[in-house]
Amino acid sequence: MVATLTPDERVPMRPMEFDASLDDLPKHFARDGDIVGSHVLAVLSSVFPDGEDFFVRSVERVRDRITDPQLRVDVEGFVGQESMHGKEHRVLNERLADHGYPTRAIGKYILKTLEWRERIQSEKFNLAVTAALEHYTATLAETLLRNAEARDEIDHDGVRYLLMWHALEEAEHKAVAFDVYKAVGGTERMRQAAMFVVHLNFIFETGVWTIISVAKDRDARRHPLRMLRGLARMRESPFTSARTVRQLFQYHQRNFHPNDRDTRALIAEWRQELFGSEGELNELIAS
Ligand SMILES: [Fe+2]
Ligand SMILES: [Fe+2]
Repeated sequence: MVATLTPDERVPMRPMEFDASLDDLPKHFARDGDIVGSHVLAVLSSVFPDGEDFFVRSVERVRDRITDPQLRVDVEGFVGQESMHGKEHRVLNERLADHGYPTRAIGKYILKTLEWRERIQSEKFNLAVTAALEHYTATLAETLLRNAEARDEIDHDGVRYLLMWHALEEAEHKAVAFDVYKAVGGTERMRQAAMFVVHLNFIFETGVWTIISVAKDRDARRHPLRMLRGLARMRESPFTSARTVRQLFQYHQRNFHPNDRDTRALIAEWRQELFGSEGELNELIAS
């Protein structure tokens, strides 16, 4: 259980190498070659590296002001985990770019808009945005870890493993940016405001980029029925279910804290499954 973990084990760094497992990545890697699902996953993966660099910068800017020794150790782990996620998603994004996905254009757009926001927003608001986006990743991570149907949506082992590892670590560090925001005096009002901005941006940006990504895909034009099936399936996906949306909106409750949702048993289960003595991902740990 988490209570018996040493401070370093709460948010552990795991150097990973997914290159080889992504070698045979097909163009449409979502379940049954689902075109829409593949593009949505590709857009999310494209956003991660520069998005996560922004999270790291937001936290690092105030790192010196954190006095709680446990939170300082957790921040160390957070920075290490997020940097590694960015590195491995860049590998996946390059493979996706080879298949024609606009992952580089999306990455460039995210980098430019975040740099612009950092120039005009306060340090604290950047942290509030980071904490809000971390709730998004924690919610998606929990859906993936709890729900076999969600995992079945990814039809390629390498991509599924990469997302499972990422999900486990998002669950492990889900409260770090939030606690840093609170530790530097972030208010409830700003926390809520930042989440509304994040909702609007997330829906708009992932929506528009998915449309652009699909529009560039010849197969999408050639197979309109497959497209329609994919769209219909989106509505039944565990990631867009009422339960997931409700969980997302829990962030708006007064005095919400990420650990209000107890995911310790879930984390323990997946640590064992992926990195235990017979862990499925032990072979992908970088030597
Ligand atoms: Fe991450
Ligand atoms: Fe994260």
